[in-house]
Amino acid sequence: MASMIVAENLGHVYRGGTVALDGVNLEIDAGLFGLLGSNGAGKSTFMRIICTLLAPTRGRVTVDGMDVVENRRAVRNLLGYLPQEFGAWRLQCVEEVLDTLAMLSGMKDGKSRGQRIAAVLASVGLEKVADRKVKQLSGGMLRRLGVAQALVHEPRVLIMDEPTVGLDPEERLRFRQLMTDLSRDRVIVLSTHIVADLGSGCSDLALIDHGKLQFRGSPSELVALARNKVCEITVPETAEAEAGERMEIVARTFKNGLVTLRGVIKEGTGPAGARLVEDITLEEAYLAFMAGRGRHVEELAMADN
Ligand SMILES: Nc1ncnc2c1ncn2[C@@H]1O[C@H](COP(=O)(O)OP(=O)(O)OP(=O)(O)O)[C@@H](O)[C@H]1O
Ligand SMILES: [Mg+2]
Repeated sequence: MASMIVAENLGHVYRGGTVALDGVNLEIDAGLFGLLGSNGAGKSTFMRIICTLLAPTRGRVTVDGMDVVENRRAVRNLLGYLPQEFGAWRLQCVEEVLDTLAMLSGMKDGKSRGQRIAAVLASVGLEKVADRKVKQLSGGMLRRLGVAQALVHEPRVLIMDEPTVGLDPEERLRFRQLMTDLSRDRVIVLSTHIVADLGSGCSDLALIDHGKLQFRGSPSELVALARNKVCEITVPETAEAEAGERMEIVARTFKNGLVTLRGVIKEGTGPAGARLVEDITLEEAYLAFMAGRGRHVEELAMADN
């Protein structure tokens, strides 16, 4: 069976000449699919093309076998989309926003629309603020409203562009659980540069850099590629800079004047006395992969904030 989303030789050049996507071939099937890449990698461009909001300048994308340019309306009916900047509708209340969007996506019957909205509010945990104005929501609630509006017409495909930005740790956890639940019976494509936010529910991921697909596989495959590339060493605080010449530091823990550094080994071997890390995290694997491509941890880690 063909994949739900298929991109073939996909390219996009913006007016002015920025190459945002450059020959991407990618198939996306059921479940939670992670789209990783640093700022400007091309993630949002890719998602906007899938959502029929932007036409590719090269190649094509199909959703459920339908070309996103030729079958725009049919593709739209299949999709729910949370844009990176979701924040319109500030003066409406939560329920009104959903009602209007549900109506726009073709749910004409008021009664069934009301039931659907109640169900969707409950599924994202917003039932208690249904009559609150959008501008009074917290950042996390606003994101969840974004998810609710993307879900209201029960789409088979959900496209979520950086849904976890600005969430506190508790909201992040909730969000991951919600995504895992929702991915049971639909395709979710979720972009992020906060790798940990993909969580264990993510079965497959793609890594984009400068508009090109660099990796496609499971999280554990990405972690496996980083084996022997992540190390840990404990040194006096004063020796950190020296150790830093042989490794790109990802994390530091201070204790009694000593610092334990964990990070990606630069070319060759790590600092003398460093031990290889066995329990490599997905984030470290991502940074190790990017370091192998000449992208530096500082630059990539900074994009997280
Ligand atoms: N409307 C636009 N006009 C011109 N250039 C654009 C436009 N939107 C994006 N770009 C450029 O295209 C490239 C890819 O941008 P895109 O927004 O797809 O990246 P991204 O991976 O989503 O980044 P981020 O993590 O910052 O959201 C960048 O170089 C960006 O500056
Ligand atoms: Mg983006």
